[in-house]
Amino acid sequence: MRRISLIFVIASIFSPLGAAADNGEEIFDRKCSQCHTFAMAQAMLEPVQESERPAHLKTFLETHPPKLNDSEKAAVIQALSRKK
Ligand code: HEC
Repeated sequence: MRRISLIFVIASIFSPLGAAADNGEEIFDRKCSQCHTFAMAQAMLEPVQESERPAHLKTFLETHPPKLNDSEKAAVIQALSRKK
């Protein structure tokens, strides 16, 4: 049982489909969820056009706490840029 879930976790980490986006949501849960959930951030982004979200978020996250490294930031931006 334990081994099966481990294989599942490894398979989902390396799965090419949606891996980066899921990873972004996971990073968000770890580093950003003290103040608001991923769903709340998505809701606040509702007025921003999907196509403008990457640029909007890149600027926003320059000053928004806490700091993420570049790859974490890219993953979070990709996840938040997908319309829910
Ligand atoms: C210290 C509390 C706090 C933490 C930690 C925090 N946020 Fe926020 N966040 C807020 C508040 C308050 C707002 C609403 C006001 C504003 O826009 O600044 C907000 C708004 C947002 C928005 C809406 C942007 C918009 O255009 O209105 C996004 C996206 C967001 N946060 C992403 C993140 C991400 C990603 C992280 C982790 C790197 C994070 N937040 C961590 C407090 C926080």
